[in-house]
Amino acid sequence: KTIYILNGPNLNLLGKREPDLYGHDTLADVETACANLGNEFGFSVNLMQSNHEGEIVEMIHDAREHAAGIIINPAAYTHTSVAILDALQAFEGPVLEVHISNVYKREAFRHHSYVSQRADGVIAGFGVEGYSLAMRRMASLLA
Ligand code: DQA
Repeated sequence: KTIYILNGPNLNLLGKREPDLYGHDTLADVETACANLGNEFGFSVNLMQSNHEGEIVEMIHDAREHAAGIIINPAAYTHTSVAILDALQAFEGPVLEVHISNVYKREAFRHHSYVSQRADGVIAGFGVEGYSLAMRRMASLLA
């Protein structure tokens, strides 16, 4: 089984971008950590990132054929994207939403997530460790 780990805009800059909020680990570090956990649980991991909403929608469509579950950090699209929500509604497996920062400690516009309406679980404020926690939860959901 394959888990898709989808990341939205500006997360390509993870590790360089606002490190006080998002830490020093890069997306490549996240990929390594999740791939190692995947090995432990018998999953392969496909981590992707895009700065374009439509590309993320297409990654989710692709997941319908190729992924057992989706871990998604939609980044700023969390708070704006009905299109990403609709795409996730058309995916049948488990969906876990991750935010590196504690969005509830931040501006009010970050307190609402379109994606949470579909997510089976949400992690926020655990730093990049949130991705590893989501991997563990995904393993239980798919067991
Ligand atoms: C984020 C939180 C979002 O509000 C923000 O737009 C991001 C990253 C997080 O991981 O904490 O880009 O999703």
